[in-house]
Amino acid sequence: MVAGKRTKYLKIDPRVPELHKIRLAARILNRGGVVAFPTETVYGLGANALDARAVRRIFRAKGRPSDNPLIVHIASFRDVQDLVAYLPPRATLLMQRFWPGPLTLVLPRSEVIPDVVTAGLDTVGIRMPAHPVAQALIRAARLPIAAPSANISGRPSPTTGLHVLKDLRGKIDAVVDGGPATVGVESTVLDLTAPVPTILRPGGVTYEELASVLGEVAIDPAALGEQAEQPRAPGMKYKHYAPRGEVFVVTGEIERVTAKIRALVADWQRLGYRVAVLATQETAPAYEQEPRPDHLEILGSRSRPATIAANLFAALRNCDRHQADIILAEAIAEEGLGLAIMNRLRKSAANRIIHA
Ligand code: TXA
Ligand code: MG
Repeated sequence: MVAGKRTKYLKIDPRVPELHKIRLAARILNRGGVVAFPTETVYGLGANALDARAVRRIFRAKGRPSDNPLIVHIASFRDVQDLVAYLPPRATLLMQRFWPGPLTLVLPRSEVIPDVVTAGLDTVGIRMPAHPVAQALIRAARLPIAAPSANISGRPSPTTGLHVLKDLRGKIDAVVDGGPATVGVESTVLDLTAPVPTILRPGGVTYEELASVLGEVAIDPAALGEQAEQPRAPGMKYKHYAPRGEVFVVTGEIERVTAKIRALVADWQRLGYRVAVLATQETAPAYEQEPRPDHLEILGSRSRPATIAANLFAALRNCDRHQADIILAEAIAEEGLGLAIMNRLRKSAANRIIHA
């Protein structure tokens, strides 16, 4: 659609998605439009994956570099066949165990997928989202749906319909609002075309879960924050998840981390900056005394990283609303979902890491 046009806002009950609203959104997709929709990870910005013109609209709306491929979303297992050149046996194993869910499989692509979707690569990322609204929409459209996260390129991914509107109102045809995304970080991108299955981006399905099915799993160095020359998920090389304030991640033993953050709060405030802190339930009391940050986000509990993941992107966006110049985030343990959380934090901090 032309920039400045009206974006339809469709509020849908995720438990019983109203069929007439789903059909309306599906019609827009069928006509080559772009529609934002909820998935269990983050909101996606969808278009017909088989229509190059429609897919180009996604890139334009987001301001996304054209060398960054999109994930193709499907709603039934048999939809995979047409999209891939062949299906390695371990792909079937993973699909049975983790689909629908937050796992994207990078597979050899077939001819039906336009180059614009895969950014010219000979592979395609495919996933089956678990969200009932996403599934209903894909089914109603009877199409594979190409969809990146529904944010302006470089911004934190959207976990609510309002986040999408904030970034893309007037630039897309519709937003289907099915409530907050529950996982909160994107899918795990797993390359099955490598000799050893390789995590290109950690996400909602953990390394430990994949290893329990596959035995051997590698992690691309770029996904661990090591400055790899050539990350294999093209998206990993771009500025990412960045709020307007500058994010710093503070690592180390937890008492030292809170002490260091409190000292930094005082230092930055003395210089006249507004400072936000991203803390956890366990550490929040440390910031509820002087020096108080201008804004405090309590992400969740260290013993339940899923609660932290669910709130992370909204917290980064909240820091913008509170006009934080500096955002100090506590590191968390890099196990389970912690790997994906730390990957997103490091990226939002553009690798500004402080060791306490
Ligand atoms: O959870 C998610 O994956 C969300 C929801 C909407 O499904 N989508 C999402 O898409 O996060 P996006 O475009 O923001 O991130 C896709 C990532 C990028 O880093 C991209 O480079 C990588 O997946 N990717 C996609 N296709 C690829 C391929 N064929 N080979 C390697 N990396 C690929
Ligand atoms: Mg994204």
